[in-house]
Amino acid sequence: MAIVALVLLVVGVFSFAIPKFKKIQKLTDKVNGINRENLSGLRVVRAFNAENYQKDKFEETNENLRKDNTFVGRLMSSMNPVMNLIMNGLSLSIVWIGATLINDGSLDLATMTEFTMYAMQVVTGFLLLSVIFILVPRATVSLRRIYDVLDAEEIIHDGNGVNMDEINAKINNKTAENDKIDAQNQCVVEFKNVSFRYPDAEECVLNDVSFRSYPGQTIAFIGSTGSGKSTLINLIPRFYDATSGQVLIYGKDVKDYTLEQLHSLLGYVPQRGVLFKGTVRYNVDFGDNKLSDEQIEWALKVAQAKPFVDKMGGLDAEIAQNGSNLSGGQKQRLSIARAVAHKPPICIFDDSFSALDYKTDKTLRATLKKEMTESTKFIVAQRIGTIKDADLIVVLDSGNVVGMGKHEELLENCKVYQEIASSQLSKEEIYGKQKK
Ligand SMILES: Nc1ncnc2c1ncn2[C@@H]1O[C@H](COP(=O)(O)OP(=O)(O)OP(=O)(O)O)[C@@H](O)[C@H]1O
Ligand SMILES: [Mg+2]
Repeated sequence: MAIVALVLLVVGVFSFAIPKFKKIQKLTDKVNGINRENLSGLRVVRAFNAENYQKDKFEETNENLRKDNTFVGRLMSSMNPVMNLIMNGLSLSIVWIGATLINDGSLDLATMTEFTMYAMQVVTGFLLLSVIFILVPRATVSLRRIYDVLDAEEIIHDGNGVNMDEINAKINNKTAENDKIDAQNQCVVEFKNVSFRYPDAEECVLNDVSFRSYPGQTIAFIGSTGSGKSTLINLIPRFYDATSGQVLIYGKDVKDYTLEQLHSLLGYVPQRGVLFKGTVRYNVDFGDNKLSDEQIEWALKVAQAKPFVDKMGGLDAEIAQNGSNLSGGQKQRLSIARAVAHKPPICIFDDSFSALDYKTDKTLRATLKKEMTESTKFIVAQRIGTIKDADLIVVLDSGNVVGMGKHEELLENCKVYQEIASSQLSKEEIYGKQKK
């Protein structure tokens, strides 16, 4: 009967407590989220005088958490006296009934004491079990979260691999001249009617994009924000796979390469420069390239990062987490150095010159052209000045290619390009160039 009472008690209490536990876990998550946001956005919060607003937000969530925690705490502590009552009631009834039995002569004292001890052990067992039950609801909530991450399906799968000797032969085929060679065969990166839709999105962000690029060329992408430039360029390292159409590198579908093979061909500078905590050397020689100091110095020089790195104390200068001890332009230059350091045959720059002043931008491009003649460069840019010397400029507008060609050609026949040009360049610069 005592056990039945105990079980009833535990079941009763937990039917109230479990939903609360789940809520507590969610609220703890929310409080942590708000704290994190407050810390990472500290300056923005201050600059917009939003301290009180953020404080109220925190207090409201924290108050809810406190209330639920107090409720569960009270419920759990109320279990204690009831459990003690049950246990002691059990001892009392054993002694009571035992006393009558001893009086009748059908039971001796030793047996009764023995029985009391066993009964206590059984009840204590159940008590301990109920303690475990307190932890179970919390654990299940946390476990579900962990499984959400572990069960997340990989959308990019490794390809079967290609014969890298064949690819390397194509890369090293320096004698071929662009206009004489078999175009299909020597093409570095080719987009073949590529359309792309983000998973869960309804509309395509890229529609039927096709272009070819040849060794040593500079291919530029320009278009308003949100026109799909980053998306397009992210299809080359296979951060996403094209929804329809094909992306080919050296004539092979990117899906045929293993990811390691594919990435060994690429140097990639993301739109938002990412640096890691460590030294300049560690950041430039990222991955398993094992570059010599000369190679790193060369990369820094190409990226115009040498002057400020020297000022910071050379290759062993410390970079803070996220590069927070560097300016935006310095971060970009280090990211560029990292991308060019292992001299990849394909370099991708996603708006990587935006934080540079015009002079540095110009020198950097000139050095890139001079030092990386064999690499095919893909440049996303907002400034016409950055890309006007490119071999091919692809103009994007809402995911559609609305113009393709050289600067002069586009100025003549692409309306979107003309609009971008007239917003950035003076009339003389535009028409002066055209007449030449
Ligand atoms: N992860 C994503 N999931 C869903 N839609 C996305 C995602 N990333 C981008 N988009 C959408 O795709 C479109 C193109 O974005 P993309 O980042 O390619 O633009 P962009 O041309 O690089 O712009 P910017 O010049 O500002 O960098 C945008 O309309 C954007 O809303
Ligand atoms: Mg972008």
